[in-house]
Amino acid sequence: MMINITGTGRALPENIVTNFDMAKIVETSDEWIRERTGIAERRISTGDTVASLSAKACEQALEMAGKQAEDVDLIIVATCSPEMLLPCAACQVQGMIGAKNAVAFDLNAACSGFLFGLSTVYGYLQTGLYRNALVVGAEVLSKIIDWTDRSTCVLFGDGAGAAFVEAVEENGENAGIISISQGSDGARGMVLSCQERKLSNPYIKDAIGEENNFVHMNGQEVYKFAVKQVPACIQDALDRAGLTVDDIDHFVLHQANVRILEAVAKRLKVDITKFPMNLNRVGNMSSATIPVLLDELNREGKLKKGDKIVLSGFGAGLTYGACVLIWN
Ligand code: ACO
Repeated sequence: MMINITGTGRALPENIVTNFDMAKIVETSDEWIRERTGIAERRISTGDTVASLSAKACEQALEMAGKQAEDVDLIIVATCSPEMLLPCAACQVQGMIGAKNAVAFDLNAACSGFLFGLSTVYGYLQTGLYRNALVVGAEVLSKIIDWTDRSTCVLFGDGAGAAFVEAVEENGENAGIISISQGSDGARGMVLSCQERKLSNPYIKDAIGEENNFVHMNGQEVYKFAVKQVPACIQDALDRAGLTVDDIDHFVLHQANVRILEAVAKRLKVDITKFPMNLNRVGNMSSATIPVLLDELNREGKLKKGDKIVLSGFGAGLTYGACVLIWN
């Protein structure tokens, strides 16, 4: 069984916020942000939701794959910033696009979310339980960011990307997803955190915990984690595929920070030109970065049949993952 991506899509809020706009909100500068992160501007929602952006991205992916919403077996929305705890974003998307035959649920693995969603789908499709799936990475991070904290608010953006994934019978071609490597390190999870509601019920006197539902990050610890763990994870996925870095045409990585991408490329001894980037235009959209970049490359005709691609996500949890696929 080959597990192929046959359609991609993306949706971004229209509102563009430049570094110069950020400098009007917090004490920062275009120069500082560009130098440290590579980001020049990001999209910030003025009404779009995780569900509405996801639905648009899914419709595009379905159109590209030549499928109807009723054909969809499974929808997974990877997000850490849904508007609703209940119902989940994936069920909202199901209702919005009319995918009435699908099973739908959310998955939270932060910036690794799309990759973890893809590997979950891979498992389902390999067993034959489902024939196809929409995998979405979608975030409206702007609502969980402290807009007075310059060390985090300049980093993130809102957006969604989707992929339609299908199982097709082997036809002698080596194509689709050929290996996956994933990991988690919960013991170090608090270096990148965001609290949900505090515990409050009739059996305790006062609500437990501080009310602070914003993203907190130890940037240097996240950097150290990423530059060590991501190359190791990519190498593991390559080993499982029986390939080397030299075989790979595109390294489509989570767009956290240009410095992380440069350090990963250096450790793998791969030219940075093989690492496409869009974070200068859209910032860090957590689970949405990989599918949005994949869709950009796909629609620009940069992914050719037979190209070997590494996807790799990493982020809060801590979580990390990589997969190797051959574009079909
Ligand atoms: N503008 C101007 N100055 C700032 C800003 C800002 N936006 N943010 C922080 N500073 C200041 C700090 O206050 C500090 O000032 P001080 O020395 O007077 O105290 C100084 O800059 C240095 O702060 P650091 O936090 O040490 O900055 P650092 O050089 O580590 O850069 C960064 C921060 C870019 C976040 C870096 O740690 C990094 O690249 N980390 C990787 C983590 C990352 O990219 N996270 C993204 C989200 S997580 C993910 O997607 C996996």
